[in-house]
Amino acid sequence: MNTFAKMGAKIGAIAAVSTAALAAGTALAQVAPAADHAAAEAAVAERIEKLEALGDIMDGQVKAMVMGRADADPAVIEEMRVLADEIWPLFDVDTSSFDDIETQSRDNIWQSHDAFLDKAATLDVTLVALKEAAGSGDRRALAMAARDVGNACGACHDAHKNE
Ligand code: HEC
Repeated sequence: MNTFAKMGAKIGAIAAVSTAALAAGTALAQVAPAADHAAAEAAVAERIEKLEALGDIMDGQVKAMVMGRADADPAVIEEMRVLADEIWPLFDVDTSSFDDIETQSRDNIWQSHDAFLDKAATLDVTLVALKEAAGSGDRRALAMAARDVGNACGACHDAHKNE
């Protein structure tokens, strides 16, 4: 591929990501404040439980695959995609006004919800690539794709999660 073709491919890929984010944004743009304290508590508990499950797969099964301690298994990565898809709609419930509820979520999740969903869409792009790599039998590709997933987790945490 010549340089311009490469640039075109790259711009095309970026456009595809933005379109996916826009589609997700349109489908999920129903942000509303939690109805009451109990609803806010339930929303926070559910999103934390699922995020912890996502973290467990990443630190457990994905790490084991990268280290060669487990067989590369695309089904595990698909499980992460399904779980992630369940998580982001939980953030339609704006819990930012309930200051006594313990959460690491920053208020900017609800102030710039599209930017938040954009990071969720980017994560999915990296998970698709990791799933492909897991099916390829290429350990190096698997390690690199897993690193990209980790960076996508981190990019959202840097912007939207308190330490
Ligand atoms: C689109 C944004 C976003 C992406 C992408 C994201 N996270 Fe998070 N994550 C959050 C937010 C926000 C919180 C804080 C949740 C809270 O406390 O309300 C969080 C919290 C967590 C927690 C701690 C749960 C807790 O509060 O005790 C873990 C573990 C975690 N994420 C793992 C991951 C992993 C692993 C990935 C990537 C595979 C990932 N996250 C991708 C936004 C994201």
